[in-house]
Amino acid sequence: MSEKVIADSLAQLQKRSSSKWRFYPSDILPLPVAEMDFQIAEPIKAALHDLVERSDTGYLGPIPELKENFAGFANRKWNWNLDPEQVRIACDVGVGVIEVLRTFMSVGDKLMINTPVYNNFFTWINEIKLTKVEVPLKREGMHFTLDLLGIEAAYKAGVKAHLLCNPHNPVGTVYTKLELMQIAELADKYKVIVISDEIHAPLTFSDSTFTPFLAASDISKKVGITVTSASKAFNLAGLKCATIVAQDPKLNAMLDTMPESVHFRASLFGAIADAVAYKSGDEWLDGIIATLDDNRRLLADLLAAKVPAIKYRIPDCSYLAWLDVSELNLGENPAAHFLEKGKVAFNPGHTYGADYSQFIRLNFGTSPEIITDSIGRILNSL
Ligand SMILES: Cc1ncc(COP(=O)(O)O)c(C=O)c1O
Repeated sequence: MSEKVIADSLAQLQKRSSSKWRFYPSDILPLPVAEMDFQIAEPIKAALHDLVERSDTGYLGPIPELKENFAGFANRKWNWNLDPEQVRIACDVGVGVIEVLRTFMSVGDKLMINTPVYNNFFTWINEIKLTKVEVPLKREGMHFTLDLLGIEAAYKAGVKAHLLCNPHNPVGTVYTKLELMQIAELADKYKVIVISDEIHAPLTFSDSTFTPFLAASDISKKVGITVTSASKAFNLAGLKCATIVAQDPKLNAMLDTMPESVHFRASLFGAIADAVAYKSGDEWLDGIIATLDDNRRLLADLLAAKVPAIKYRIPDCSYLAWLDVSELNLGENPAAHFLEKGKVAFNPGHTYGADYSQFIRLNFGTSPEIITDSIGRILNSL
């Protein structure tokens, strides 16, 4: 059994300067923004302290240990074999995806996303002026998954690239290997590039199996590029580092045309932290997954006991809960209602897709006390 991790107290958390704890006044309990409320792993702390102690605070140069350690982690966790030479560095996943898209697409080209999806997918598309093609996920109860028929129709109609959220934020679905193989076959048939954002993957719970897109089949290697980071699983987002991986020679030749600055704009702190996370973070990660496993079930118990009208499916990965609050009849923007009347902040559903205004996203990467308090505040607001 892995040692569970205790989250910081509210008083400690309120001293943090990160976005989650700075965005709202202190009477609001903040459960949006995908940051966790735990102490980071000791080996990462030690490596960061060491950089500071030695004033090793310059630019990021060659960082072979990150590439090697990522390849080691991918092999250990997911049986994904890759050559460290196939790993590139970017400043964060957002920048990595944008730079990859810039390399393969021109203004106006069609990019597919599967809604409801991570809100910044929309901002990235707008930033580089692509045409968004939404193929919503299929919904069965509270289980959302890929609509392969819809995806094929859109590929056929001229989509040039598909930005896949694998595993999926906010619905918490880990796709099956078969689904990913089918996507790869369709992408190959219609000449679509699949960019797989795998930032949540290390947080997959033991009752699900994560398959890296590039490890799904030989065809997926031909059509896919992965962008990921240790930042979500190890709570390092402010340190700024991500990795881009392609295993096909033609795709890699295209990626070679990216400006060198894609690498150098990442931070030395982020790259060292990611390298240590991938090499020495397994024990901490197991503890976090065990803790989040308790939290995802605690949330189910609390909702069933106190607000059964809210619909929730225990997610397959990570620390985000996608809640359907439509039965509460709270008007156009339920998150605004909870903020005003309950003093508790969640992400509003409409930011993940226009049809999802009756959903909220709750971050349970925190203490049982804060999760329980958040449900109390929902109740108080009703
Ligand atoms: C699916 C997904 N991709 C990317 C990001 C952000 O990554 P980064 O900060 O590295 O751009 C998030 C943050 O929550 C996310 O959920």
